[in-house]
Amino acid sequence: MKIKVIHGPNLNMLGVREPEVYGRHTLDDINADLCSHAKKLGVDLTCYQSNHEGDLVDQIQQALTDGINGLIINPGAYTHTSIALRDAISAVAIPTVEVHLSNIHARESFRHVSYLAPVCLGQICGMGALGYRLAMDGLLNHLSCRQ
Ligand code: DQA
Repeated sequence: MKIKVIHGPNLNMLGVREPEVYGRHTLDDINADLCSHAKKLGVDLTCYQSNHEGDLVDQIQQALTDGINGLIINPGAYTHTSIALRDAISAVAIPTVEVHLSNIHARESFRHVSYLAPVCLGQICGMGALGYRLAMDGLLNHLSCRQ
């Protein structure tokens, strides 16, 4: 099973960026934790981060070419703005779970809307770094049910 995690803008700043909102784990910590979870489950995991919308679109499209079975995406602020990311997820039709470290629904009203959620399998938010593990478990459960 091949899963790819895609992190959007400013998530490379985790650990430094508003720790009271996003916690003290760095992106490397989160990826390392997810890699060890993936290893136990026999999942082939790749991780990618970019601050650029077009790069993120390219990575979603590349997932189709690479035979990725499931995507985990934290689109950062593009969650609330990007029709391009939504269309890319819709175009590749790879089961995708949207993850947010913070509870976007308990924050500013502009964060309450996700352009991606309607084309995703589900959304996990407010669970901090644990959300990525939960997303992987949910994806695997979904993918195994489909076989
Ligand atoms: C975020 C929530 C977004 O609203 C914000 O722009 C981020 C991080 C989260 O993980 O909680 O960059 O996606």
